Amino acid sequence: MNAIPVTNLFNKPCYSQFDDQDWDILVHHWYPVARIQDVSIQPQQVMLLDVKLALYKTESGTIHLVRDICPHRGVPLTKGWVSGENIVCPYHGLHYNGEGKCVKIPAQPELTKISDRFSLTKFPVVEKYGLIWTSIFSRDPSKANFPVLDTWDMSDHQAILPPFVDIGGSSGRQLEGFIDVAHFAWVHHGSFADPDNQIVPKYTTERTDYGLHTEYVSNVSNYPHGIQDLAPEGFLWKRVFDVYPPFSAVLTVHFPEQGLLKILNACCPVSHNKTRLFVPLTRNFDTTGDLQAVYDFNAQIFAEDQDMVESQKPEELPLDISMEAHFEADRSSTTYRRILAECGLSKRYVV
Ligand code: FES
Ligand SMILES: [Fe+2]
Repeated sequence: MNAIPVTNLFNKPCYSQFDDQDWDILVHHWYPVARIQDVSIQPQQVMLLDVKLALYKTESGTIHLVRDICPHRGVPLTKGWVSGENIVCPYHGLHYNGEGKCVKIPAQPELTKISDRFSLTKFPVVEKYGLIWTSIFSRDPSKANFPVLDTWDMSDHQAILPPFVDIGGSSGRQLEGFIDVAHFAWVHHGSFADPDNQIVPKYTTERTDYGLHTEYVSNVSNYPHGIQDLAPEGFLWKRVFDVYPPFSAVLTVHFPEQGLLKILNACCPVSHNKTRLFVPLTRNFDTTGDLQAVYDFNAQIFAEDQDMVESQKPEELPLDISMEAHFEADRSSTTYRRILAECGLSKRYVV
């Protein structure tokens, strides 16, 4: 893939409240920005790390992501439209092709060579787990730390992609909440947990080449209330968390009778305090069951978490371990914070 032309390099947007150094690091990672099924020929704006992007597909079906600003007079391209393989800016009708090059200036049709100054900034598009993934400055997906959801394409597993969830909290706080095993009894007693089952048994967390791996075994059921007697008496539930920093994690839940549920928690850090959460999941049981029931259960659980994540202060995850108090069951969280700090993210990481 080509490097970004020098004319198209850009700095952190002036309205962004990310720490400068944190933004410079985060822009080299890869994130999901949309579900593939939601992309159409009607350009739509998505935001990543405070950068506004235009997402659209052309008439051949090719998906494009470009910076949502026309290099002529700064009008968002999402106010425009797709014509054939081009996107057209609505202000003066400039046409941009699939490489982001301007191929038509209607006011000057006699122009045979159009300057590269009229080029759009393009971003890479990788399709994975039903999602569009991109990076602001990385151009080599082979070096990306993509989460592994190996069951997504397996014929004996059902792949499910619920609607995304918009959260008014930072991606670090949200991700840490996803791997937190001490809040089940307190936050999720309305969906699957037991308010009287509060003790967190000892569990193991280890560093890996991709991030961290936690195995947690307890008697907290993963079935919704109402069908919890489906599990045999005394069944122990194993939950495995694999974290792919900065903001993705896969939870594998081992159900009775070799049942496997895998949930990918993939954050798009829209802004320092805004996250668009994508949750592709797979299961090898109940594969003909009602999908709406899965969407509803998923939405209920994330809504329970949302109230906590949106109220935490500071909004961003404090990577200086001494800034908050921890108990032993927080081992996964503190390890996650250390990994982010080692990535070079500021210990402050607080706005
Ligand atoms: S601002 Fe886009 S064509 Fe002029
Ligand atoms: Fe939770």
